[in-house]
Amino acid sequence: MGHIHSGEKTKVIILAAGKGTRFKSEKPKVLHEVLGKPMIFYVSLSARWINPEQIIYVVGHKKDQVKEAINCDRCVYVEQDQQLGTGHAVAAAKEYFRDYDGYVLIINGDMPLIKGETLKNAVSFMDALVRYEGANLGDMVLYKNENIAGVVLTAYMQDPTGYGRVIKDGQHRVLRIVEEKDASPQEKAIKEINTGIYIFYAPYLAEVIDQLENDNAQSEYYITDVIRLLRKKGKEVHSLIIPDPTEAIGVNTRWDLARAENIMRMQYLSFWALNGATIHNPETVWIEFDVDLSKDVEIFPNVMLRGTTQIGEGTIIEPNCIIKNSKIGKNVKILANTIIEDSVIHDNAVVGPFSRVRNNTVIESQAVIGNFVEVKNSSIGKRTTAKHLSYIGDAEVGNDVNIGAGTITCNYDGFKKHKTVIKDRAFIGSDTMLVAPITVGEEAITGSGSVITKDVPDKALAVERSAQKIIPDYAEKRKKEKGADE
Ligand code: UD1
Ligand code: MG
Repeated sequence: MGHIHSGEKTKVIILAAGKGTRFKSEKPKVLHEVLGKPMIFYVSLSARWINPEQIIYVVGHKKDQVKEAINCDRCVYVEQDQQLGTGHAVAAAKEYFRDYDGYVLIINGDMPLIKGETLKNAVSFMDALVRYEGANLGDMVLYKNENIAGVVLTAYMQDPTGYGRVIKDGQHRVLRIVEEKDASPQEKAIKEINTGIYIFYAPYLAEVIDQLENDNAQSEYYITDVIRLLRKKGKEVHSLIIPDPTEAIGVNTRWDLARAENIMRMQYLSFWALNGATIHNPETVWIEFDVDLSKDVEIFPNVMLRGTTQIGEGTIIEPNCIIKNSKIGKNVKILANTIIEDSVIHDNAVVGPFSRVRNNTVIESQAVIGNFVEVKNSSIGKRTTAKHLSYIGDAEVGNDVNIGAGTITCNYDGFKKHKTVIKDRAFIGSDTMLVAPITVGEEAITGSGSVITKDVPDKALAVERSAQKIIPDYAEKRKKEKGADE
């Protein structure tokens, strides 16, 4: 062991090969989602944040699915064929750190709440332990402590159940880590837990990684056992406490997942609130990772903002709305119980209550889409209104159009979808059926209740219904005719 440390160069190993037995799921554990993204996404993000030389993923159980979700071209994937424990997983990546003169940061793939900043601090801490300045004949020089083999990130948990407990000497040096299942009652009483994040000086780790044994309660090769092996060689492993224990949550069950998701959700909500959004009853509001809010957005209870969604300044979102992968402009009102997906709503429009907008719909500024109106794959022009009970699908609707209550674009003939074009300032009478393909011209009018099957020229009226008859005093006549029983 005559290596010399050469500073903060770091590679990251992310452990993501496990089955996640405790999840009782067909889906690999690290692919279960927290606020719409797989757990492994957040771990990867934090790892990237420290700008490491390389990120190595250890994959195994359903590895193709896991690799696809990670979707990183520059990363390295190492396969662990059998999941024999975290130590065995790290050993599978040995070729990437054996000859590396730098640090290896190992992190469990089931820690979605860990922050990049915390990882960065850990690397700096390791570096500070290794390198220290001193005076030599009056000049400041850098010394290196070659005994330092690594740092374990720990946390104090109110309820440490399930975690490995950290056994230390009086100087923050870790003697060993004991797993819950191997721990004595005294050891179980320790509240300082192993977070599952470690930094090792790579060549030291390489020297001991193949010496792990599985003589423990789970018959697994534990990465935590390298600490004992390093100590035997006279090396030191130190500990660094993560101040916020929630960052250290390891997700082993679906209940852990729910707790982690709630914590992250509240973190995002407080972030947005502190950046100028009003959030009423945050316990009920759901905002995913790729959502962006401008200032003075106001969000009422039970709102879900999902996927890549942007909300413009001054926009109000009333209760029970779901907005996914959509862009909402400024001062828009999304009224209660509205669902918007894959669409764009421009400034000052009003949508809802009880509207559904989907499939690449574009609603221009000041348009009004009202009660029980569904709009699919359509464009709705400026100031156009469709206030009640309509279906508008595959339509191109101009500016200042009025769409009466109950209007339906009959876009599907049982085989194909067809387009409806409604030009500027047209007036569509209530309960019009527009049988597509069809065009209604500028300023054209359709009579209420008409089934329109032919194009309507500009400014024309199209009516399709039988003429109304009036029969005076019919009620009396009818009584006589029928000879009603008195
Ligand atoms: C581990 C630690 C424990 C620590 C806890 C923190 C060990 C032995 N125990 O326990 O001290 O308190 O994390 O959350 O390390 N994995 C593989 N291959 C395997 C086994 C696991 O890649 O053969 C991966 C899993 O996919 C997972 C990570 O390693 O992402 C941790 O495994 P897990 O089974 O969750 O370990 P814990 O029991 O939580
Ligand atoms: Mg775990």
